Amino acid sequence: MQTKKIYIETYGCQMNFSDSEIVAAVVKEAGHSLCESPKLADVIFVNTCSIRENAELRVRNRIQEFKSLKKKNPDLIIGILGCMAERLKTQLLEEEQFVDIIAGPDAYRDIPHLIGNVESGIKGVNVLLSHEETYSDLNPVRLGSNGVSAFISIMRGCQNFCTYCVVPYTRGKERSRDMLSIVNEATSLFNNGYREITLLGQNVNSYNWQQYTFADLIKAVAQINPLLRVRFATSHPKDMSDALIHTIAALPNICKSVHLPVQSGSTAILNRMHRKYTREAYLERIQTIRKHIPEASITTDIITGFCGETEEDHQTTLSLMETVSFDYAFMFKYSQRPGTQAAKLYADDIPEEVKAKRLQEIIDLQNKLSLKSNRNDIGKIFEVLAEGPSKRSQDYFSGRNSQNKMVIFPARNTKPGDYVNVKVTHCTSASLKGEQCEV
Ligand code: 5AD
Ligand code: SF4
Repeated sequence: MQTKKIYIETYGCQMNFSDSEIVAAVVKEAGHSLCESPKLADVIFVNTCSIRENAELRVRNRIQEFKSLKKKNPDLIIGILGCMAERLKTQLLEEEQFVDIIAGPDAYRDIPHLIGNVESGIKGVNVLLSHEETYSDLNPVRLGSNGVSAFISIMRGCQNFCTYCVVPYTRGKERSRDMLSIVNEATSLFNNGYREITLLGQNVNSYNWQQYTFADLIKAVAQINPLLRVRFATSHPKDMSDALIHTIAALPNICKSVHLPVQSGSTAILNRMHRKYTREAYLERIQTIRKHIPEASITTDIITGFCGETEEDHQTTLSLMETVSFDYAFMFKYSQRPGTQAAKLYADDIPEEVKAKRLQEIIDLQNKLSLKSNRNDIGKIFEVLAEGPSKRSQDYFSGRNSQNKMVIFPARNTKPGDYVNVKVTHCTSASLKGEQCEV
């Protein structure tokens, strides 16, 4: 086998970035090396996202650029990994004829073999989904890491089948990773200087390995060392248990930040989305979180313009946003995905202009709420984990507080990984700014 220089480009969610670190580990173990630029590469992998049509279009455009590199260098191998590979399978080979490898999210161990096949002139496709694969024995190569924060994938797949969502089809059945391997990975990251770990999964609250729940797992990771911060994403409201809320409240190094996607404020729409909770049940979970963790930030995901959404449903979403007063939100126009239940059952009947208008109203409201939340922090002192010099100036550092808000402060011999107390003096809707202080 010839060793190759491999360039990996990643699109989509944190899970995909974490998967690229697994791919990097697989190819390095097989004797290949990684490189930073597609121009230097023998193999280009694009790890793709299918969540919305736009995500796929971006990837399609980007791979056209790689096609021109291949014209200059016919030996260049181009591979599509992840959700688009899984969703489109060999169709992608027909549509993008210069592509050599298609590998789905459970087929990454097969990549060295697929590269070998291409060398013998055979295009490589592996889109088998597994009920067991968790890559638990692999030691991910931390790509683009700041040396302070890292992601650990704790489970794979999703079987909630929200009607709009393609993930259960592209990532397969839900399975949890061996808890001991997660704790070992976190311990070794801590010993290597990392200070913040985000436990990742499509629906971390339903983590279940042997008799252990997510509350048990996060506690075990938090107990590695008080200087290790623990975060998690993403939670499903139906599985946000009291036990987990109590665990977050009890351990100081579990970050006080809960991302709880609501998707819509209207129970009728939630039903059609198959979210398995009502507006009232969601608000009840928020109240319980606020009661036990009053300092927690709460963030969400919202989809606007889902099938059959009336103006009244939309107003109900705006009113839920006001009621909860989210600290931050990811907001999207509904994008119909082929093969999902929504695509089969309902018409995508909200006109594009209406979707755009509603999205703008949601964004405008959220900007107001984010600014209000940040203004509320002026005068408070936060413990901030320093990540690195701020983008704008070397004299400033940036880091995050427990609530996951970005905080900018003047550097004073500050090193990445230091915990610094910062008193907030200014803010925008996107970040806090302050001065270092003693407590
Ligand atoms: N259209 C728009 N947004 C979607 N999401 C998932 N599927 C779709 C879709 N078909 C959003 C949800 C989810 C986030 C990761 O992406 O809000 O929580
Ligand atoms: Fe998609 Fe729902 Fe699973 Fe999240 S919980 S990945 S929105 S199906």
